[in-house]
Amino acid sequence: AFTPRVFSGIQPSGGLTLGNYLGALKRFVDMQNAGTHECIYCMVDLHAITVWQDPAKLTAATREAAAFFIASGIDPERSILFNQSQVSGHAQLGWLFSCVARMGWMGRMTQWKDKAGKNSENASLGLFAYPALMAADILLYHATHVPVGEDQKQHLELTRDIAAKFNHDFGVDFFPITEPVIEGPATRVMSLRDGTKKMSKSDPSDMSRINMGDDADTIAQKFRKARTDPEALPSDYAGLKERPEARNLVDIFAALSGRSTDDVMSEVGGMGWGQFKPMLADLAVDKLSPITGEMNRLMADPAEIDRILGRGAERADAIAAPILARTKEIMGF
Ligand code: ADP
Ligand code: NA
Repeated sequence: AFTPRVFSGIQPSGGLTLGNYLGALKRFVDMQNAGTHECIYCMVDLHAITVWQDPAKLTAATREAAAFFIASGIDPERSILFNQSQVSGHAQLGWLFSCVARMGWMGRMTQWKDKAGKNSENASLGLFAYPALMAADILLYHATHVPVGEDQKQHLELTRDIAAKFNHDFGVDFFPITEPVIEGPATRVMSLRDGTKKMSKSDPSDMSRINMGDDADTIAQKFRKARTDPEALPSDYAGLKERPEARNLVDIFAALSGRSTDDVMSEVGGMGWGQFKPMLADLAVDKLSPITGEMNRLMADPAEIDRILGRGAERADAIAAPILARTKEIMGF
């Protein structure tokens, strides 16, 4: 039996969005507050460098991501909050797992295909191996549950395949078969300009996303200009099935307010966009502005953020070190 333990992370690559907040941070906080699991949250800087990162910007983005966690409600005493590169077990287990994972498994990852594109000869080797490092991040703590957005589902399946292959190859029952936790209305927040694409910091159009840090006027303007169809909202959620842009705005509303989509539809069904969009903008400003205010306050004291992350790394390493040592022993080191 494994201790109920959550691991998840975000990349400190700059440009945090409402998608990161609703798909990841808000749910990380909910899991911490539920009190059912020991929670370990990480700035995955070793993942960020699979594509080029300017060193000074990486440092700043790491502190910004840490501030985002704390401002959103992660308590660095109750949860463990740290920076991946400060716990050497991640890189070590990542290498061991890159000798367990198969080339074919990696080649099937849709994120690899999307990010490397047609120019895969020029992609970093790390970008290809990324899911093996991600498996190491999770299994280094014997994490049983990983809250993530829908886009990470395939990587979680690969983590399970690596754990199962390791256990099978060495005839042990050492690594847990980790469960993804992908639930709630906002596991895939979509672009405000195109209902078929996920909201992302890498979209060239700033109007496609709400950034953490956007001011009230900008948020209102982005929702006002969000693409929708001309029809009013239907009476129930099922009526949004073929209307991805409209559904996305309802999903965002539900996730921000912590209500079910059915409950939201019972209030907003029949409304026109001229009424719903300002309501959505007000709600978003209400929920996001205290977070960005608190982020700014925290980032004014970078030494304190570094101290919190240093302490988190010590606590993470205390769990990781014996698991890594046992892994090496099993493998014959
Ligand atoms: P990004 O995907 O923005 O590059 P990360 O890889 O650091 O950022 O993702 C951090 C977390 O945020 C992951 O759990 C991911 O699933 C989640 N996430 C990112 N974008 C979205 C989105 N548009 N909707 C829901 N969750 C998202
Ligand atoms: Na991602």
